[in-house]
Amino acid sequence: MRAKHLLSIKDLSRKECQRIVKGKFKKSKGNAILFFQLPSTRTRSAFELGLKEMGMVTEYVDARTTHLNRGETIQDTARVLSSYCDVIVARIQEHDTLLEFASASEATVVNALTNLEHPTQALNDFYTIEKEIGLKNARIAWVGDGTNVCNSIVLLSEKMGVPLKVSTPRGYEPAYECDWTEDPEEAVEGANVIMTDAWVSMGQEKQAKKKLKALKEYQVNKKLLEHASPDWVFMHCLPAHRGQEVTGEVIDGPRSLVWEQAKNKKKTAKAVVSELLQNRGKRL
Ligand code: CP
Ligand code: NVA
Repeated sequence: MRAKHLLSIKDLSRKECQRIVKGKFKKSKGNAILFFQLPSTRTRSAFELGLKEMGMVTEYVDARTTHLNRGETIQDTARVLSSYCDVIVARIQEHDTLLEFASASEATVVNALTNLEHPTQALNDFYTIEKEIGLKNARIAWVGDGTNVCNSIVLLSEKMGVPLKVSTPRGYEPAYECDWTEDPEEAVEGANVIMTDAWVSMGQEKQAKKKLKALKEYQVNKKLLEHASPDWVFMHCLPAHRGQEVTGEVIDGPRSLVWEQAKNKKKTAKAVVSELLQNRGKRL
């Protein structure tokens, strides 16, 4: 049976998304490899411990210590690693490289962040919204850079029918079509969930100076939030950069959900893998 991958939110049906954002999971047996080419504080540990708690055996592989570094192909790497396990949770910089990896993998591949998408983060963030305020009550505004997380949020909000308005500078729009404005005040008007992400994502270090300049009017701060719905909450996938995309006052304040969001990642790691394994090959 062909493995069912989660490389983009596009790979999931609405029903699958609904089950995942409810945090449902079943105990699963089997082996998982975590194949990471980039740093991680949250995703790695959340998946590693979450899957162990579910009954799976996990193995962390730092991609930088493999033969990929000295010319073994990404397809050969995927073919071999996937013959040892049922699931590979992969953090790979280039999305096209992840697609090549997945095309050679016998095991289910879960995208744990590429430059294009971070689907498990978006699912986690919707789980958090559902738990904290209910998705049916949410009106999301994304302010800042149109990052990988933003791209997955755009797709997931469309799939699940949650209103979303995105504000980025021109040239930093999300990769997917959405309700967009250049004006951050317009984006937060009436919104009760305000999201942002780092201005300099992993792999963009060389563009840091240019990006910090382009994004400086897009900081989430108290002044901007005066234009939001009075019951606003703040969300950020982390890591955060206080004084850049968000002020300390907002992220460390009482309306910030960032710690719940981070904590929930272990729960949603279980829900994602359980959904992909339980329903592998079934039509939904
Ligand atoms: N939010 C998130 O993916 O964090 P890490 O990079 O620490 O895994
Ligand atoms: N956009 C950020 C997300 C980190 C979880 C990055 O890619 O670095």
